[in-house]
Amino acid sequence: MASKLTSGGNFNWVAPVYDTLAFVVFGHKLQRAQVVFLDQIPAGASVLLVGGGTGWLLEQILKRGNTKRIVYLETSSKMVARASRRMIQKSLPGSVDFRVGDETALLPDESFDVIVTPFVLDLFTETTLKTRFIPSLLGTLKPTGLWLVTDFVQPPARWQKALLWTMIRFFRLTAGIEANKLANWQQCLLYANLALRERNCQVGGMVSADVWVRAQSQR
Ligand SMILES: C[S@@+](CC[C@H](N)C(=O)[O-])C[C@H]1O[C@@H](n2cnc3c(N)ncnc32)[C@H](O)[C@@H]1O
Repeated sequence: MASKLTSGGNFNWVAPVYDTLAFVVFGHKLQRAQVVFLDQIPAGASVLLVGGGTGWLLEQILKRGNTKRIVYLETSSKMVARASRRMIQKSLPGSVDFRVGDETALLPDESFDVIVTPFVLDLFTETTLKTRFIPSLLGTLKPTGLWLVTDFVQPPARWQKALLWTMIRFFRLTAGIEANKLANWQQCLLYANLALRERNCQVGGMVSADVWVRAQSQR
């Protein structure tokens, strides 16, 4: 299985070392940020997990054992291979549709109770987020659905800004991501008529764990 280069990049080359790199730089902090709102996934939910990488978050969701079905949408075939191997090796229970592809691989009649995007929105420019990525995913979210986002935000300290800049440069070089600066993805979600339900700042203000819903379902 090959992965073509999309605007979110091709992470095949990075896949074998991705988790180690993340651990060396952040320890377990990025993982902790991703589970903050997992308890909000309702029992029996259908979940779209986009860009789940090697499957650590998938494992956490499956271990909770209350989802009906998960679509694991990943552009990197190497990441998908690792995630599916993890599920088999750990005998994780649950129904998962592993799909190599981007948002265009979603089927016209698919809909989900929960969308999860862990460290994915930061790969794109604001134009791509507003015109393509967010609308495509949002089209599959049920009217009362939740969108759980964990991602980097503009950090307060100078060293954090430098670290973020270095990471974006690194993934531009190794994976060919289109972003050359961090998009204001929270603004883009508001632009898509979503409303923030809950927020938790993580990693010293570098990361935000958010729960978003359709604006009309807030009323
Ligand atoms: C920065 S990594 C994050 C991986 C994982 N969520 C984590 O935090 O360890 C971004 C992931 O998103 C995937 N990706 C990029 N663009 C995508 C798209 N349009 N649709 C689905 N996955 C995408 C990449 O292949 C990569 O595995």
